[in-house]
Amino acid sequence: MDRSVTCPPMAEPEQTTRDVPADLMDRVVNLCKRRGFVFPSAEIYGGFRSTYDYGPIGVLMLRNVKDAWWRTMVQLRTDVVGIDASILSPPAVWEASGHLKNFTDPLVDCTACKQRFREDHLDDPNVCPNCGKRDSFTEARNFNLMFKTHAGPVESSAAVAYLRPETAQGMFVNFANVLNTSRKRPPFGIAQVGKSFRNEITPGNFVFRTREFEQMELEFFVPPDQGSYWYDYWCRARLDWYVDHGIDRDRLRLRPHDADELSHYSAGTSDVEFLFPWGWGELEGIANRTDYDLTQHAQHSGADLSYFDQETNTRYVPHVIEPAAGATRSMMAFLIAAYDEEEVRGETRTVLRLHHRIAPYKIAVLPLSKKQPLTDLTREILAELQPTWMCDYDETQAIGRRYRRQDEIGTPFCVTVDFDTVEDRAVTVRERDSMAQERVPIAELTGYLAARLR
Ligand code: GAP
Repeated sequence: MDRSVTCPPMAEPEQTTRDVPADLMDRVVNLCKRRGFVFPSAEIYGGFRSTYDYGPIGVLMLRNVKDAWWRTMVQLRTDVVGIDASILSPPAVWEASGHLKNFTDPLVDCTACKQRFREDHLDDPNVCPNCGKRDSFTEARNFNLMFKTHAGPVESSAAVAYLRPETAQGMFVNFANVLNTSRKRPPFGIAQVGKSFRNEITPGNFVFRTREFEQMELEFFVPPDQGSYWYDYWCRARLDWYVDHGIDRDRLRLRPHDADELSHYSAGTSDVEFLFPWGWGELEGIANRTDYDLTQHAQHSGADLSYFDQETNTRYVPHVIEPAAGATRSMMAFLIAAYDEEEVRGETRTVLRLHHRIAPYKIAVLPLSKKQPLTDLTREILAELQPTWMCDYDETQAIGRRYRRQDEIGTPFCVTVDFDTVEDRAVTVRERDSMAQERVPIAELTGYLAARLR
């Protein structure tokens, strides 16, 4: 394949206007709190500055988002390996990457109400959005977003360390280690999923912008003449990933950055954007970072980060294509995209139409009674299903109400164990979206579900 050829640009589908309830965001946030997806952090102390905790259901969903990404980006490929680098790192890394100098936001203070804003986020740079006062802002000053700390007991400048503001640098500083141990050669990638920290001036919109969040990043190292090919490849692949995991195509778009938005080293950046209730917002950026990162780290560390290609007898510094996604932000998009309310027999059914790979639980096992002989049968069924799938178990309330509870958290299948099960060794399987029910022999249950939860 000639990898120097650039793919034709992707056709954008027609954008449709959607009938989205005005308070959709409130409904989703409310569901998150009520059902244990996301809680405000340190809530019993009044919360803590836009930080959030993921509850029993949320931790499953967030894990599924990250696992789905890892499955696509690492497990199903032969040209990507993973790492898990440290969160704390020395200033030298951030000096080389440019973060110490450039990872700043322009900050202004309103002299009237004392509120602080990002200058580039103001609708009108002359009017305070909080108190409405005109020409009340201080001069903009650059505010570095990295969290600084000290490693060890002495708070001296020699002990300064930073919490990483992106996972990406862990891949660059380990480039030679991975190259020497993995037997990969360009084009190949290093993937990482983990926490990042940014001292955002204006966090907000629930978990859209927080100071502590999770990223899913791939650094894909390619021969210089293949940069353009792989940039187009990853733009397409990453947009498709969200569609493949259940977000309607008309709620997504790929937005190429204008020339004045590009970093000085970028030969192209596009964002995958999702139509949030307040408008389009970035889920992921795909950047052609050229040889900037490896060159910077080679210069600052003195390490040789070039690659010698024995086939072509050439030495080069690989170029990097970087699809960088937010896990927590993507989870929020999956929740919003899946949230639905419909009338069923005169009642409102709230249902999360999540892709089964993203859904917190795959199956709920529901005995009609919590007495024998159904208890033993339910245990038997759980023992069969639990090694493969995350299963919920609920034995209280009327079965209709239990179905609704599972709909609300997006469980694709409910398995009901009733008194007929004792006689015919079959269960009722109810599918979330259609609410269709089917009688399935216990002996065939695993195969039945496996075919639908692939
Ligand atoms: N290494 C490149 C990089 O970090 P970025 O666009 O700054 O690029 C990548 O971040 C993704 O990380 C974003 O598209 C977004 O999904 C997520 N992200 C960034 N800052 C975030 C924040 N404060 N809160 C939640 N997610 C964030």
